[in-house]
Amino acid sequence: MDVSLLRAAAVAETVARVREIERRHGATREAIERIKAELVALGQRAGLFPLEHFPVPAGKTGEIYRLSEDADRRFALYASAGMPGKAQPPHNHTTWAVIAGVHGDEHNVFYDRVDDRATPGQGRLRRTGEHTVRQGSAVGFLPDDFHTIEVVGDQPSLHLHMYGLSLEDLPGRIAFQHGDGGAFSVFPASPTIGAPIVAPAALKRMLRAGEELALFDVREEGEFAEGHLFWANCLPLSKLEMRVAALAPRRSAPVVVMDGGDGAVARRAARWLAHAGYRDISILGGGLAAWRAEGYEVFTGINVPSKAFGEFVEHHDGTPRMEASEIAALAAAGGPMVILDSRPMNEYRRMNIPGGVDCPGAELVHRIFEVAPDPATFVVVNCAGRTRSIIGAQSLINAGVPNRVVALKNGTMGWHLAGLQLERGATRHAPEPGPGAKARARAAADAVARRFALTFVDRAALAAFEEESDRRTLFRFDVRDPREYEAGHLPGFRSAPGGQLVQATDRYVGTLGARIVLACDTGTRSIMTASWLHQLGWEVHVLDRALEGQDLVAGPEPVHVPGLGAIACDFVDPPALAAMLEAGTACVVDLDTSLRYRDGHVPGASWAMRGRLDRALARLPAGRMIVLASSDGILARLAVPELAGRDARVLLGGTRGWKAAGLPLERGATALADETIDVWYRPYDKEAGVEQAMKGYLDWEVDLVAQVERDGDTRFRLSPR
Ligand SMILES: [Fe+2]
Repeated sequence: MDVSLLRAAAVAETVARVREIERRHGATREAIERIKAELVALGQRAGLFPLEHFPVPAGKTGEIYRLSEDADRRFALYASAGMPGKAQPPHNHTTWAVIAGVHGDEHNVFYDRVDDRATPGQGRLRRTGEHTVRQGSAVGFLPDDFHTIEVVGDQPSLHLHMYGLSLEDLPGRIAFQHGDGGAFSVFPASPTIGAPIVAPAALKRMLRAGEELALFDVREEGEFAEGHLFWANCLPLSKLEMRVAALAPRRSAPVVVMDGGDGAVARRAARWLAHAGYRDISILGGGLAAWRAEGYEVFTGINVPSKAFGEFVEHHDGTPRMEASEIAALAAAGGPMVILDSRPMNEYRRMNIPGGVDCPGAELVHRIFEVAPDPATFVVVNCAGRTRSIIGAQSLINAGVPNRVVALKNGTMGWHLAGLQLERGATRHAPEPGPGAKARARAAADAVARRFALTFVDRAALAAFEEESDRRTLFRFDVRDPREYEAGHLPGFRSAPGGQLVQATDRYVGTLGARIVLACDTGTRSIMTASWLHQLGWEVHVLDRALEGQDLVAGPEPVHVPGLGAIACDFVDPPALAAMLEAGTACVVDLDTSLRYRDGHVPGASWAMRGRLDRALARLPAGRMIVLASSDGILARLAVPELAGRDARVLLGGTRGWKAAGLPLERGATALADETIDVWYRPYDKEAGVEQAMKGYLDWEVDLVAQVERDGDTRFRLSPR
């Protein structure tokens, strides 16, 4: 196990014992003595605290790193790194505090406050003793004890500092300028607390070891797509609150946060995650630049593990494929044939192969005996590019359907590049399977389950997984169509249509090494999805007879946005905003993705990105009220605190509410106040050079096979012959 993981385990055990000491003994001298013994023991395991994990930034004399903190901000443990000469004036803590040594010497002088506290802003101290804390020793303080610290000697120091409450929650701390007292001020004005550093080589080892780990690249998706680690999950700082709870539900699991290299965005994300209750957070030192400098592979694009996996499957399984021109000729010849589009309806509707019907990934085996009951029917599976064509066709082949099945080579992009016409706006979908077709599909899926030795769990096993979910991350997905999910699903299960879960696993699962349980009605869709997640390297289980006799809940998946409720803001409803725009008293800033902004926004709205609103605000007319908008208004609300000092409101109901009020939308990228690095633009999202982008994209997919081999971190499993 890597040092940072061992350290996290040791820290968690120590903090658990400290909680118990305080519970039994309160904040007393007796408790302090016992806590000192715990921290001395932890500090003696110096190998867990290498100085390179806790660097002192250039130009500073010290840095504080958060090792642990409870969700309610209690029991905060820090590693305090200092260079010789680092010193703090006499200060108190307003909570109990214990310091124990790991590396180097930290000299403490102790004081009592001896004035009658009658004079505001003034006081007197009396020196009572001193002690140099180094490995094997500790000092402790009650809330109103005062001390100074100074790093002495010529070695950098690292000390464990533990407090009853987070340093960020101690606004009443004061510091005197001198050891005899006098005027005092709030101490420190604004504590900055970092997260321990993990080096690229250590992260590489952690990824290979396969233990639980959430690796979050917190840059915007457009930047991420320009280059990232194979297993990095794109979690932009601007969307952190909206996505993290779903991506990394176990907050005690190790999290590594990274950015492009300077660490500024990573530190902001790490701090937010710590406040949201994530307990084991590190930052990749030097970010992507350092990873690249080590000579490790850097991948472009998005959903790379799944895309690479699709290529891997085609390579290994020899998935049959057919050129667009050949399929067009067969279609024209008029033989029995179905073209099944394995993408969700919204993607299908945008452009599809003429005559094709929508049948998303996991629905293929479930519906095939209804769609193509005659074994003589030729079956073509397509998507926009390669992955879902390959996985879809191979699903039918693995399930042993008797029909001839091929993947349309390069999907709708290949069709377009061959000079063939696409159909737009179609809404045809594959029919619901009848009882006979369902039973045949399940029998076919069972053969797949046997071949891949998939595991089935019953309710009791699921309950045991749920009980363990504070120690081992558990994801529960309902892999049916989202409309079926909304009509009724198992409580606690999230909606993840099976085809999309395979195609973009990183959109649903943020913790590597987690355990996944899948549910559907007949089992077919769970089994087929599980067969792919298993090959992708996940621990996956199929919930047997998942919905039978269960109480289901209706409605969409609840979205949990930590902190949203605590944001105070004023709203403006669509008609009022329309009047303000007419009068020229407001300007609208749309924070949605630049693609959705392009598709339609409040007329005159500027587009900007949350997280760097300061850049955009400089370009807006002064003196007008700012109204923030996003599609549903949530992102706009989250951005309100970033507008401190400006007169700002949030558009009630978001752009959707504006549209629902019958107000007009403006289309096009009309007023961009920032660079559109927020999302990755698919080839067909581009406004120019579409064909070239399509060719580049398809080449990129094919090239992933070689790049993945060089990287060496995949966990793909070959299918048994
Ligand atoms: Fe202190």
